[in-house]
Amino acid sequence: MGSDSDVPFESEAEELSELSILGYPKTRRKFIKQVAGTSAAIAIGPNLLSAVSLDQAEATSAAGAASDLVKVNLKINGKDYALDVDPRVTLLDALRERLQLTGSKKGCDHGQCGACTVLVNGRRINSCLSLAVTHEGDEITTIEGLASGEELHPLQAAFIEHDGFQCGYCTPGQICSAAALLKENHANSDDEIREWMSGNICRCGAYPNILAAIKEVKTKAGV
Ligand code: FES
Ligand code: FES
Repeated sequence: MGSDSDVPFESEAEELSELSILGYPKTRRKFIKQVAGTSAAIAIGPNLLSAVSLDQAEATSAAGAASDLVKVNLKINGKDYALDVDPRVTLLDALRERLQLTGSKKGCDHGQCGACTVLVNGRRINSCLSLAVTHEGDEITTIEGLASGEELHPLQAAFIEHDGFQCGYCTPGQICSAAALLKENHANSDDEIREWMSGNICRCGAYPNILAAIKEVKTKAGV
């Protein structure tokens, strides 16, 4: 029997769960594409969908939007980006749709679940509630920027060690939030961690394991 790293994922769902906490974009894009296609087919219906020229619709909307674009400079995970964005585009959508940084997740899109949490100048925010154009010059860290090369961030390693996730959808937001929590010195007791992580919802109920992971990093790092 090989090492853990040699063991293949037993299913695609398991693979997605494992990779999503690392912010790995390729598999997530495939997943989102599948979900988006399914949703559109359900919403529009097969007959209407086949009658509409999607190319035509996309061309019309692109032409209308181009005249309203605003330039914004962002530093994301240490790299500089200059984007022309619609001023109504959220930071979350800019990250996911324009830069393919799909580690940050869209859960509720209403500031209620924390799945979209990223760090802006070291502070955690819900990126679904923040317009990209308001972040001119800001330094943004997403789940993709937490690891150092091949070396996982201590929180990523601790979440794996303590089974801090099941489906993994909330996990990038949980880890970004926990990274800020530790820097804020808000991890001094179980209750304090629960309180300051309360903006990050886990529908799988992995809370005890998330708590254990954060506590371990706090203890090991002595922060
Ligand atoms: S997607 Fe932003 S808080 Fe839920
Ligand atoms: S691990 Fe599934 S929502 Fe948190």
